[in-house]
Amino acid sequence: MITGIETTRAEVLDIFAVAPGIFELTLLAPHAAEQARPGQFLMVKPNSQNQPFLGRPMGIFDVDKEKGSVTILFEVHGGGTRLLSEVKKGDKLPLLAPLGNGFPLAEAGRRALVIGGGIGVAPLYPLLLELKARGVYTEILLGAQTAERLLALDRLCKLDMAISIFTDDGSMGTKGYITTGLDKLIEEARIDIVYCCGPTPLMRGVAKICREAGVECQVSLEERMGCGFGICVGCVVDHRAADGTISKKRVCYDGPVFEGKEVFWRD
Ligand SMILES: Cc1cc2nc3c(=O)[nH]c(=O)nc-3n(C[C@H](O)[C@H](O)[C@H](O)COP(=O)(O)OP(=O)(O)OC[C@H]3O[C@@H](n4cnc5c(N)ncnc54)[C@H](O)[C@@H]3O)c2cc1C
Ligand code: FES
Repeated sequence: MITGIETTRAEVLDIFAVAPGIFELTLLAPHAAEQARPGQFLMVKPNSQNQPFLGRPMGIFDVDKEKGSVTILFEVHGGGTRLLSEVKKGDKLPLLAPLGNGFPLAEAGRRALVIGGGIGVAPLYPLLLELKARGVYTEILLGAQTAERLLALDRLCKLDMAISIFTDDGSMGTKGYITTGLDKLIEEARIDIVYCCGPTPLMRGVAKICREAGVECQVSLEERMGCGFGICVGCVVDHRAADGTISKKRVCYDGPVFEGKEVFWRD
């Protein structure tokens, strides 16, 4: 155990496809289920044979404290996630969790806007549950390329929050990007904190609009990772603090959640 992080072999309780190339995987991991905070992530390997050698970082999408399980929502990109999509119930997977800082939680009385693009909705769902529990007024903007790639919609609809949907091809909701009209929405809905996770261009665009509107914006960054807990320095990004100081930050340890205006956005 690395101070509060459990390294374990977690049994696969369930795995199924929710859309082409996108899977929901539930693991028996009582420590992670008990300890995880919204916005934290885990490192999981698809097998015990060190193939691949490094775990793959995945946002914690759902937890069931009673069952002691955590669920991730992941998309197949390369070899690691392909192997992960092929695991079977009963397999035991090397797991390190929970990791990272998680989202700072708004207090009751604040007005939040939660923006998820594609698979980026995964770490936002636990955040939405927590905001609801705290009585924070919250609206959701959810975007994807197509209707079938709008993820977790069933869960989000049960939250009883205002949801606006955007698809690139117009197959559901408004055709176009989430950022269109975002400045107006922030002003009209008197939003004072925005949370965002999704593709880098989306987070960069949201962070820029929030900066111009003078609204707090918390983004969850993705970097390639080695260890996942701050030792290998494989996930370092430049960071500009509020006082202008520039320093290096480890996305796995200092993040993955950062204030949008403090991130050096790359193309
Ligand atoms: C904190 C964090 C949380 C994440 N949460 C999720 C999640 O909830 N669901 C999900 O599907 N994915 C998530 N990712 C991305 C996921 O970790 C990568 O898709 C995965 O590691 C790719 O592994 P691979 O072996 O399949 O791909 P590789 O063969 O290693 O690479 C294939 C492609 O994936 C890209 N890639 C590799 N690593 C990352 C990375 N860390 N971030 C973004 N792109 C990457 C590569 O650039 C390449 O184009 C998260 C990443 C981080 C850092
Ligand atoms: S992945 Fe090793 S320091 Fe971040």
